[in-house]
Amino acid sequence: AYNERESFYIVLNFAAEYFKDLLHNNPQGKSIGLSYFKERAFSNATIDKFDLGFSLDEWDGLIKAATKAGHSEDLLEKAGLIIKKEDKTYDRFRNRVIFPIHSISGKPIAFGARILVNDKKQPKYINSPETDVYHKSEVLYGIAQAKKSIRDEENCYLVEGYTDVISLHQSGVENVVASSGTSLTTQQIKLIGRYAQNVTVLFDGDAAGLKAAMRGIDLILEGGLNVKVVIFPDGEDPDSYSRKMGDEEFKRFLADNSKDFIRFKSDLLLEETKKDPIKKAETIQDIVRSISRIPDPVKRAIYIKECSDILEIDEELLIAEQNKIILREK
Ligand code: CTP
Ligand code: MN
Ligand code: MN
Ligand code: MN
Ligand code: MN
Repeated sequence: AYNERESFYIVLNFAAEYFKDLLHNNPQGKSIGLSYFKERAFSNATIDKFDLGFSLDEWDGLIKAATKAGHSEDLLEKAGLIIKKEDKTYDRFRNRVIFPIHSISGKPIAFGARILVNDKKQPKYINSPETDVYHKSEVLYGIAQAKKSIRDEENCYLVEGYTDVISLHQSGVENVVASSGTSLTTQQIKLIGRYAQNVTVLFDGDAAGLKAAMRGIDLILEGGLNVKVVIFPDGEDPDSYSRKMGDEEFKRFLADNSKDFIRFKSDLLLEETKKDPIKKAETIQDIVRSISRIPDPVKRAIYIKECSDILEIDEELLIAEQNKIILREK
């Protein structure tokens, strides 16, 4: 007999295979789902690598197929695949393209599902809920496909979305994961830290992306990892921009535009606050606050020195400022 965890993996694998089969073999799946991915310029190899799929425009496509194969509705519900209300039971994912979310070892543990045509009345993505085998805060989308490359490159690119991960792979950048559907967590940073000590944040070029990047930087520093940032032009994300630029040009863009967090913050904040001494003081405070989160005192000293050079502020003063913050937050 299988234990309960094992039965979750089996039913989730069944669902992943079912969605994949629909994408490749069902007339609706081919004409709507596959052509959606083709329009986004995903190659067949990419579609296979990420086990992409399709869900029918029906209320019970998966329920029927899974129960016929011997899986109980109870298990389907616990695995987050169907929704049970008092009077009705129906598939969670309908008429959407499917992005399976894999465990570190590559087992499907959850799904993200994208609407085919943007529509303000429905959420663009629907994701699996928390289940016994899917804890959002501990999972990174793409980790199974990326882990080897993260180790080899000693760096992990962190993006916001499923399609960013996928497009970067297709451009030849395989050391990339997304926090997907949640804001970045401490556990996710620990997970990256098992493979590399360096993270490069590639968030969307919009206000939300910038805000998420600022928060992400501090969490990554607190986790003891080194962090760089690449800013994308307004309205672009890593997926859209990599397609616009072409593979080699995009890789060069990443290499040329990765800034360490101090330079990123000082450039960004000082740009808005040129020649305003009060704003400059706030910027310095902000950067020193980030530095004070770094657990290693030697690294802190190096960054304080860099900050002092970039902003032309006396190092002793910055150290005093940092010590005040560290004491206050203890
Ligand atoms: N997301 C989500 N639910 C939503 C919107 C977004 O879970 N309603 C998550 C998804 O994981 C998505 C990520 O947040 O991939 C980033 O959101 P966004 O930038 O809006 O989407 P993209 O990934 O750029 O998707 P697309 O290119 O398909 O529009
Ligand atoms: Mn658990
Ligand atoms: Mn966005
Ligand atoms: Mn995006
Ligand atoms: Mn996008």
